[in-house]
Amino acid sequence: MAPEIQSLCPSTTAALLLLAACLAAAVAALDAADYARPPLPAGGGGRRVLFANGLGLTPQMGWNSWNHFQCDINEAVVRSTADALVAIGLAKAGYTYVNLDDCWADSERTKEVGYMVANPKTFPSGIKALADYVHSKGLKLGIYSSAGTRTCSNRMPGSLGYEERDAKMFASWGVDYLKYDNCYRDGTPETVRFGRMSRALVNSGRPIFYSLCEWGFMEVPKWGGMYGNSWRTTGDINDTWSGMLDNIDLNDAYARYAKPGGWNDPDMLEVGNGGMAYNEYVVHFSLWAIAKAPLVIGCDVTRVSNETLGILSNAEVIAISQDRLGVQGQKVSKYGNDLEVWAGQLSGHRKAVLLLNRGATRSASITAAWPDVGIRRGVAVEARDVWKHETLPGWFTGSLTAVVGPHSCKLFVLTPVPS
Ligand SMILES: *[C@@H]1O[C@H](CO)[C@@H](O)[C@H](O)[C@H]1NC(C)=O
Ligand SMILES: *[C@@H]1O[C@H](CO)[C@@H](O)[C@H](O)[C@H]1NC(C)=O
Repeated sequence: MAPEIQSLCPSTTAALLLLAACLAAAVAALDAADYARPPLPAGGGGRRVLFANGLGLTPQMGWNSWNHFQCDINEAVVRSTADALVAIGLAKAGYTYVNLDDCWADSERTKEVGYMVANPKTFPSGIKALADYVHSKGLKLGIYSSAGTRTCSNRMPGSLGYEERDAKMFASWGVDYLKYDNCYRDGTPETVRFGRMSRALVNSGRPIFYSLCEWGFMEVPKWGGMYGNSWRTTGDINDTWSGMLDNIDLNDAYARYAKPGGWNDPDMLEVGNGGMAYNEYVVHFSLWAIAKAPLVIGCDVTRVSNETLGILSNAEVIAISQDRLGVQGQKVSKYGNDLEVWAGQLSGHRKAVLLLNRGATRSASITAAWPDVGIRRGVAVEARDVWKHETLPGWFTGSLTAVVGPHSCKLFVLTPVPS
């Protein structure tokens, strides 16, 4: 462990502050390696990390343009999205960040000084005006770049070599969030390229949520918390049942590294984009919530269906995601190929428990046994079904069993009853 951590601490920097923080982070990483996570003291706290910008104490919630619009974005889309988030109650439900993805900037930097500028055709009012508008709605604006010479679309410049300049520009526009991609890179390791932008954001004079999007290379969960507030653990999600499950399975392996201030990111939500059935989107949203994944909406919220809105605004499920302990729920047992139990600690000695049937054809009875879920033998709990908004009759001791349909799940919050 030690040599690996050493290599993460940039030896070239002379900044004492950085060095101290780096050592603290190395200690935190060692600490995390002996994973036995005590609940945080009331009122928060958590381990010190290099990137202690005070943001992301719970997984970020918001919207991002990519999954639905890809490059087909403009300032009208972003403004109407902000309007819709407020109008249909998603802002109130916690979705705060309105995030531009790729293709917002002009194709080249300005000739004289090398600044990145908004695409004059699609964002004629500029990013500062857009940030002002989004802020006027009580929301926050996110932007996008790449740790390479170009972004993934190859339609705009990346920030490699321009980290300080771009971070200061973003800050001057009032940007609150950066998603930083990994296309058109040189041979420099991710730790270095993503670390440079981390320092640039710290130096920018504005707290900017930093979302690393380097696709899970170099075991990013082990060092991402030193540099940013979330880190992608996977390639891009797609709007399919199996693609969605692939991402959350990969992400699950790193559960121990998530904590308030820094989260594993299996990519943005596809809920509402049409590629999955209602019950499959319920599974998608439930898994993202219990795994403390960012809840970043990827559909067009200006034409959202009632069903989609019902999923995205389920306050009881969102409360699992946003629980102040910030413990990522994990897959804790598996029966055959298709039946799984996921569980995670919540504040107030409660547990979130997900019963998942991955099979395509048959309903099945799935049991969450207390030793798997992490409840002491003999403890009785009350079980709340957070999709039905119903507390089950009676108490449960030793296990909880429910019948779950194909490609479906049940999600419960278990609360111990006084003995
Ligand atoms: C979706 O992603 C998975 C991997 O996560 C991949 O196997 C599959 O081919 C993708 N499907 C489509 C339609 O792109
Ligand atoms: C939408 O859902 C709400 C409850 O969630 C219901 O009251 C309303 O009738 C539904 N509207 C339509 C058009 O289905």
